[in-house]
Amino acid sequence: MSAAGAGREPGRAAPRRAARHPVRLPDGAVVLAVETSCDDTSAAVVAGREVRSSVVSSQDELHARFGGVVPEVASRRHTELVAAVVAEALARAGAGFADLDAVAVTQGPGLIGALLVGLATAKAVACRHRLPLVPVHHLQGHAAASYALGVEAPFLCLVASGGHTLLVAVREGVDYRVVAATLDDAAGEAFDKGARLLGLGYPGGRELDALAARGDPGFARFPRAARRLRGFSFSGLKTALLYDLRGRAPDEVERHRADLAASYQAAIVEQLVERTLAAAAEEGLSRVAVGGGVAANRGLRETLAARCRAAGLDLFLPPPSLCTDNAAMVGLAAAFLPALPWPEYLGLDAFASDAEVRPRRRAR
Ligand code: KG4
Ligand code: ZN
Repeated sequence: MSAAGAGREPGRAAPRRAARHPVRLPDGAVVLAVETSCDDTSAAVVAGREVRSSVVSSQDELHARFGGVVPEVASRRHTELVAAVVAEALARAGAGFADLDAVAVTQGPGLIGALLVGLATAKAVACRHRLPLVPVHHLQGHAAASYALGVEAPFLCLVASGGHTLLVAVREGVDYRVVAATLDDAAGEAFDKGARLLGLGYPGGRELDALAARGDPGFARFPRAARRLRGFSFSGLKTALLYDLRGRAPDEVERHRADLAASYQAAIVEQLVERTLAAAAEEGLSRVAVGGGVAANRGLRETLAARCRAAGLDLFLPPPSLCTDNAAMVGLAAAFLPALPWPEYLGLDAFASDAEVRPRRRAR
């Protein structure tokens, strides 16, 4: 056990002490991470860059009948699952609470009720075992996933999820500068809306990806966002698919559903890949990483791999399980962030959007 977790005795009354400043965890600190920002209940045990366990309990089936995530249903399900998911993460890592040096948790952004379940759980574990707590920004988590693959900063990271699409230049740890962001929809949203138009089930991105694998990406040509745009734009694409489908007879749509999915996906992928390569060149960065649920997309992974190889860039592609929401990425980010000493985190609140609070920067 390292210094951060030493000297605690569960159950004893808290001694009076002066407020201490946040500290950086020691190298290789064993962290229990919790992530409940949307509809996946997840816990992981991470030591430095080593993911010892990662458990994700998906709520997909629960929300499928509503065609999307119902926030209140998600929070209630998190409440039911979180203790078992934490226990499973510890068991798979062969660890007990006594082996932990810290607890990390997604503080925001996300669904506020869902976040609060994870935060309350993390506080309870940390407080009971007198451990420090590391609040993590969800996007810093996505950007940190590639540390499990050994990436070294500085690097460029494409973060593409259901709520965000941005390119960030990671300077050090999880301290980043936003290089480009979406001007309208997120890439995941474009996948989900396209999937709905194509009559696919929920969650849409994964279904569209699977269908596209059997289709011809050259079947229909959907608009590409203007090259001069620095950011991403996907809303026109979704409208183009809507009009394309309206212009075809139902049996033609039926016959060419996979071709339409492949063509639509190709348009999203091309924009993501082009912008990423252009930003790497502009920023002078030779390492490229990805994160977020859309980074699980097969078309994106293949195209990005080929284009990075051709451009001589080192690409870090975390496995899909580290791209879609998971607690391991939160534990990986925690190594670079300030840890609040016990019990100074008890008043900590979750935040639903960045308008409420800015991402935390590296520890002093
Ligand atoms: O990062 P994530 O799991 O949650 C958020 O932070 O939003 O991303 C979820 C998004 C959804 O829009 C989902 O449809 C999309 O990622 N997604 C995919 C794939 N897997 C998940 N999109 C395209 N292809 C996939 N294989
Ligand atoms: Zn996410």
